[in-house]
Amino acid sequence: MIFDLVLVGGRVVLPWGEETTDIGVRQGRIAALGDLSRAGAERRLDCRGLHILPGLIDAHVHLRDPFNGVWGDAQVESIPTGTKAAILGGICTVFDMPNTSPAITDSARLAEKRAYLSGRAWCDVGLYVGATKRNIANLAALEAEANVCAIKVFAGSSTGDLLVEDDASLEAVMRSGVRRVCYHSEDEYRLQARAPLVSGGGPHALHAEWRDVETAFLGTRRLMALARKTGRPAHILHVSTAEELSYLAEFRDIATVEVLVNHLTQVAPEAYERLGGYAVMNPPIRDRRHHDAAWAAIADGTVDVVGSDHAPHSREAKERPWPKTAAGLTGVQTIVPVMLEHVSAGRLSLSRLADLMAAGPARVYGLAGKGRIAAGFDADFTIVDMGARREITEAWIATPCGWTPFAGMVVRGWPRMTVLRGRVVMREDEVIGPPSGMPARFVGTGVRH
Ligand code: DOR
Repeated sequence: MIFDLVLVGGRVVLPWGEETTDIGVRQGRIAALGDLSRAGAERRLDCRGLHILPGLIDAHVHLRDPFNGVWGDAQVESIPTGTKAAILGGICTVFDMPNTSPAITDSARLAEKRAYLSGRAWCDVGLYVGATKRNIANLAALEAEANVCAIKVFAGSSTGDLLVEDDASLEAVMRSGVRRVCYHSEDEYRLQARAPLVSGGGPHALHAEWRDVETAFLGTRRLMALARKTGRPAHILHVSTAEELSYLAEFRDIATVEVLVNHLTQVAPEAYERLGGYAVMNPPIRDRRHHDAAWAAIADGTVDVVGSDHAPHSREAKERPWPKTAAGLTGVQTIVPVMLEHVSAGRLSLSRLADLMAAGPARVYGLAGKGRIAAGFDADFTIVDMGARREITEAWIATPCGWTPFAGMVVRGWPRMTVLRGRVVMREDEVIGPPSGMPARFVGTGVRH
């Protein structure tokens, strides 16, 4: 067999463990593993000294397209810039959130967004559809459309106008279809009841006081009661409290869990003192007890997915005094370097990282043909140098708003190449064009009868 590409001699993170082996690629897919030194190949890529991970997935990004009714915002973020940031940071696939303006809540807008990806996306993209109280009757059809990663429910309000907060509507959403539903879990009524806290301004650390532990925990208790009642699988996004993590361990038959890199890396009150508005996000960065619980939940397997919740805002919006500070932090480009530093610090293994950022998202969302290095799967690879020592700088950030809360962080481990369906799309911090991202495919969707 003649391969289009052979990755030679890398330390490969396979589903069954690490092996030093060659990988043969044909027609964008993994065709062979093993000693391919005698095999014919159009191209050989020397990967000796490097680790090859399955193409990593950031299942939680907000690329902001469309913004105020227009595609391609040049100031903050867009699908072209955000997907370029992704491949620069070693990410092969992103799942893009629907809280845009207008929001992605119907088939026509979904179709426009899908069409917009073509020739503009640098990585593969799955698309969330937002639930509203008005589109519940259409959700079953929407979740079955091609390239839809999941229905997203904001059960508490955050950026944008998507909100389904009452039990009757949430139950109706759960009874509408069959696929796993993704939730922003903060109790809207408690957020509103605590609004007086936000009326007087104050330090950014008050953000975590307003959106407190009980706000998140109560939201998750309500969602789990409804998920049990209806039997509908749930994915709780950005779980941020020790209380929820131990609670969710009792619901593993119906619930999966995402934790964010921010909650694994930043701790209150230091983050607010150091970063001010650039630490404000929903749900908030909390104190060390919750940070330690998140790591314990990585260690014991409670966590299925680690994502970035990449949520760019202009510097002006981040620098507004609290509580007018926009909530959300950039992260799609920095998640891999930051997680590699956690690997180097001994907090998790590369195998666990591949589980949390490739196999995990593939399993939770039913992503087709990706998530593991195995014959027949897409030839997506995140190739990293664990010997590299680099500082994260804002000059490296491709997202137009231009800031990262991780500026100045020195990391041990860096993505050296990103390979997307057999094409090297990033090498040594340079993207190699043209944009070749495709809409991601999900099991059982887009079926034509
Ligand atoms: O901090 C956040 N920012 N949390 C969210 O839930 C939304 C996101 C955004 O879109 O800005």
